[in-house]
Amino acid sequence: METVVSGIRPTGNLHLGNYFGALRNFISMQNEHNCYFFIADYHSLTTHPTPGDLHGNVRQVMVEYLAAGLDPEKCTLYVQSDVPETAEMYLFLNMNAYIGELERCTSFKDKIRQQPQNVNAGLLTYPTLMAADIILHKATKVPVGKDQEQHLEMTRQFSNRFNRMYNVEYFPEPQAFNFGNELVKIPGLNGSGKMGKSEGEGNAIFLADEPEAIRKKVMKAVTDSGPTEPNQAKPEAIQNIFQLMKVVSAPDTLSFFEEQYNTCKIRYGDMKKQLAVDMISFTEPFRDKIKAISADEAYVSRVARIGKEKAQESASKTIREVREIIGFKRF
Ligand code: TRP
Repeated sequence: METVVSGIRPTGNLHLGNYFGALRNFISMQNEHNCYFFIADYHSLTTHPTPGDLHGNVRQVMVEYLAAGLDPEKCTLYVQSDVPETAEMYLFLNMNAYIGELERCTSFKDKIRQQPQNVNAGLLTYPTLMAADIILHKATKVPVGKDQEQHLEMTRQFSNRFNRMYNVEYFPEPQAFNFGNELVKIPGLNGSGKMGKSEGEGNAIFLADEPEAIRKKVMKAVTDSGPTEPNQAKPEAIQNIFQLMKVVSAPDTLSFFEEQYNTCKIRYGDMKKQLAVDMISFTEPFRDKIKAISADEAYVSRVARIGKEKAQESASKTIREVREIIGFKRF
């Protein structure tokens, strides 16, 4: 059994791309491993959210992960700022992280370009905070996408450096959790290739979307003027509706429309109507559970409290031992 740690960005509502990406993998991992999943609200301060936005987004993500199937009995689901041991670990790591290596980090260089007016120290030390999250539970595996691999490599560097500096074999080397080809790519509705919140209005279907909103978005999905030759390859612009149909509709439904396409008889309006119906039923259980959980204030706060307690048990043990190793002694 591995110890798994992963941070979840508090982005508010989750869309189908999130579900078929990390979320579904977390749900299966919780059955086999000792998993710590946390909502990375300290990290989100680099962009200066308002207090209302911060809390609302953290709560929404928590509710939706629960609705989708994360089980607080099987995994430890917590809010990062509920475990201030994280901040202490971050402080220790910052003392041994070099400005040069932090400045060379790709995500930092991207941020400088994207937000030159807000290049704060939190952005520079994002990798040490992430490393703190991971080593706080002495994780052996971290499920990360391609964009996070460099951060994980830096985490290995920081924990090895700590071990060497104090001549201990304390932190394990966390490795990437490889999903192999289980990851399903979810395209956005506007034909841009990837479902995402920031990819434009109407591009993403959210798990909490009401049926009418789903129908409207699907009916507006980008298509082209239709095939002109039999068995023509599908251009990128219309792969979106076929790929989405593949994940939410019955196989027969998909093959029917494939056939219509291949024989140049397809009417995209009909296909979209069907896709909307299937999308609405696919998301229905999520929608219902999100509503029920969100309305149950007592349950949500109980989950947060239990998560905090379980995470702190592991975190405070690590911090106690790390303090000892560093040389902080009680008088
Ligand atoms: N940086 C990750 C992201 O942007 C989120 C994250 C924060 C994380 N701390 C982590 C992921 C620790 C894995 C482990 O998605």
